[in-house]
Amino acid sequence: MSKIKLINIGEIATYNSQTRTIDNIKDSDILIIDSIIGKIDNDSDKDCEIFDCKNKLVTPGFVDPHTHPVFLNGREEEFGLRMQGATYQEIAEKGGGINSSVNGVRNASTEELVALVKKRMDRFLKLGTTTIEAKSGYGLNVESELKSLKVLDIVNNNHSIDIIPTFLGAHSMPPEYKNNPRKYIDLICYEMIPAVAKQGIAKYCDVFCENGYFNVKQSRRILETAKENGLIPRLHADEFEDSGAAELAAEVGAVSADHLMAIGEVGIAKMADANVIATLLPGTTFFLRSTNYAPVKKLMEAGVEIALATDYNPGSCHIQSMPFIISLACIYMGMSVEDALISATFNSAKTLNLEKEIGSIEIGKKADIIIWDLEKLIEIPYNVTDVPILKVMKGGNFVS
Ligand code: NIG
Ligand code: FE
Repeated sequence: MSKIKLINIGEIATYNSQTRTIDNIKDSDILIIDSIIGKIDNDSDKDCEIFDCKNKLVTPGFVDPHTHPVFLNGREEEFGLRMQGATYQEIAEKGGGINSSVNGVRNASTEELVALVKKRMDRFLKLGTTTIEAKSGYGLNVESELKSLKVLDIVNNNHSIDIIPTFLGAHSMPPEYKNNPRKYIDLICYEMIPAVAKQGIAKYCDVFCENGYFNVKQSRRILETAKENGLIPRLHADEFEDSGAAELAAEVGAVSADHLMAIGEVGIAKMADANVIATLLPGTTFFLRSTNYAPVKKLMEAGVEIALATDYNPGSCHIQSMPFIISLACIYMGMSVEDALISATFNSAKTLNLEKEIGSIEIGKKADIIIWDLEKLIEIPYNVTDVPILKVMKGGNFVS
């Protein structure tokens, strides 16, 4: 049995699942027994390894519940085009966008992708993310979607970060099915989803439900088939237009609907009724030069729980930092830093059905902890691009 105690903590800022608010705990140590938080108190027992936190801030590790890290090359040229005024949709219509990342993944070896994804995970961990959801979605055929999920599984088994894999075969219509979309939906439902279920790596199934990608009817069919095959639905919903995707998320019992920049009143009400969590991605809004941030206040007033994620991908959001996402959520969406922390830890764990194990510093939970070179929570968004982290602990071990 290993025992480590974090002492001289200035303040622990964490969600408290009893009071359902943020606790600011002072004058307490954290005793970690093996990988689990055993005690949060100030007893004098020093019969264990000691780590001195030098009166600094301690928070839970971040849980990033929406990323697309399995790609080969960046799409910097699209970034350049957007600076000249082109929109994400215009670039996609001209052959850029998601489909332009597909050849890279199809032609890459598993080893090549593993090396890239591993490096990306090193960076996530350094920035305080201790658990991450990660999607396939740049393979768009049976072989390359399975390969992408296999890559995530290999990295997960060889890296301290925990990766929760999602199948996103319905990310874009691959060029070879452009004139026969029905055939691609058939391929997803009759071949890909059963193969993904048999492979046994993915836990969730996502769909990019948006005009020009997959409409509500197609998305419903895919997500219902996913459920029959034991995958849990989550959606890219109402990013550019209100196409009824949030309503669909409620109808199919999705755990989360993500983006929601264009969600309408009906979608908000349906999500609240069905307890669908809204995963908001302000990094994407920012990176796409939009000012149309998701309506977080309206969602919260309706009783929808909010999670925050990076949406890290090569096209619409090349951002890995959850602290920066918290800055954007505070500055552009007007979230309080306390709400933003809940959204980036406990609520994001909830969208992965992991809130009993991770997402807060509470007894019995996994010791996924950040020790900051900061004193107060507000200093996280205040530092914007700087991430003053002293140590990241994952499952009781210092990993960064
Ligand atoms: O979440 N919106 C759809 N998918 C990604 C974009 C992926 C890409 O452009 O490569 C997103 O923003
Ligand atoms: Fe996304």
